[in-house]
Amino acid sequence: MSTQTETIRRNTVPQIANRKGGDPIVSLTSYHAHTAAIVDKYADFILVGDSLGMVMHGMDSTVGVPLDLMIMHGKAVVRGTQKALIVVDMPFGTYEESPNIAFRNAAKIMKETSCGAIKLEGGARMADTIKFLTERGIPVMAHIGLTPQSSHVMGGFKTQGRDEDTWAAHIADAHAVTNAGAFSVVLEGMVEPLASKITKEIAIPTIGIGASADCDGQILVLEDMLGMNPWTPKFVKVYGSLGPMIEDSVKRYASDVKDRSFPSEDEVYR
Ligand code: KIV
Repeated sequence: MSTQTETIRRNTVPQIANRKGGDPIVSLTSYHAHTAAIVDKYADFILVGDSLGMVMHGMDSTVGVPLDLMIMHGKAVVRGTQKALIVVDMPFGTYEESPNIAFRNAAKIMKETSCGAIKLEGGARMADTIKFLTERGIPVMAHIGLTPQSSHVMGGFKTQGRDEDTWAAHIADAHAVTNAGAFSVVLEGMVEPLASKITKEIAIPTIGIGASADCDGQILVLEDMLGMNPWTPKFVKVYGSLGPMIEDSVKRYASDVKDRSFPSEDEVYR
């Protein structure tokens, strides 16, 4: 009798990069092992985004997210998944200063979480760092358009490219990260025709969030699309209503506690 153990292989960076212009890339954020295990069944890659600072930890922006928090959530998501490529965000202040510092912190993320790639924000200004990292074995997903870590400079979370005069700079960013070796690029909060134009012009997959249906893939923050947050950005299609479901369950539980309406110990341990 022979047995065969089926090995599930994770999606790789080249597999995602090769999806340019092909079957749309499905991706979502996840921050915990249990939700990631569900997302893993359908997503090509999972992003452990620094949005976790706002979504999970109640921060006003992503600026305060520390590296160790990203590593902790990154480990949980890697543990909970088998198939999707796991990409972990580099938080603000851990990569902008110099390519050397970026390498040190990106290597720490990859060693400690066993993720497959990192993501960082910024276009032309980050090109040297992206090149430095990719040449040294660290796959980089870039992120341009609305870059939340720069929200203080941008004056808030504002859709980019409303003024056509700004398009050239965004297009230059897209080409700069491509030429520097990024394997894909997130286009966030960007007017539709600009995101569509960038997608047609560059050779790496674009991943849209509030950008264009023409992008090579899409990403959403899981908790937003599940309806867990009282406020969600206008572009988010909400697929669930987990917030109200959780509230209803907690309310019924509280009511059972007050009514002493619980099974007795002998019923439970019978
Ligand atoms: O941190 C995050 O969740 C992100 C996505 C919005 C792309 O960067």
